[in-house]
Amino acid sequence: MFRRIYHLGYAVEDLEAAAAFYRESFGVEPSEPEEVESEGILTAMFRVGDSMIELMQPTRPDSPVARFLAKRGEGFHHVAFEVEDVEEALRRLRDAGVELIDEEPRQGAGGTRVAFVHPKGAFGVLTELVELGGKEGG
Ligand code: CO
Repeated sequence: MFRRIYHLGYAVEDLEAAAAFYRESFGVEPSEPEEVESEGILTAMFRVGDSMIELMQPTRPDSPVARFLAKRGEGFHHVAFEVEDVEEALRRLRDAGVELIDEEPRQGAGGTRVAFVHPKGAFGVLTELVELGGKEGG
C-alpha cells in the first residue's frame, strides 16, 4: 500500500524561525509557507531525497497542532505515506478494523487528498495517507 515516506511532520511554534534554522544550518530551501485553513496550520516543506519534512505552525488555538504543542511541545508530529488511492487504502484499513480519524479523504496542501489514521490504531504514531494530485505538496 505504501509507495514511500512522503513526509515527516514537525510541530513548531514559529515557522519562520524553524525554516531559517533548517536553511542556515542544513542548507535546505523550505518552500513558501502555505496556509491549510481546514487544519488551522501554516506549513512549509523541504525535500530530503524522495521525501520531505513538513514544518507546521498553528494559526489558531483550537487547531490540532496547537493542542499538540500545548500538550507535548515542539517535535515530531506525524508520518505521511504516499498511497496510490487514498479511498482504497481507507477501505482496506476499515475492513481490518483500524481506528481512523478520517472516514473520508479530505483536501491537503498542494492539491493532495489526505486521510489520517488514529495513533491509537498505529502503535502511537499519527499516520497520514497522501494521494498526490497535480503538483507536489501536502
Ligand atoms: Co502531513
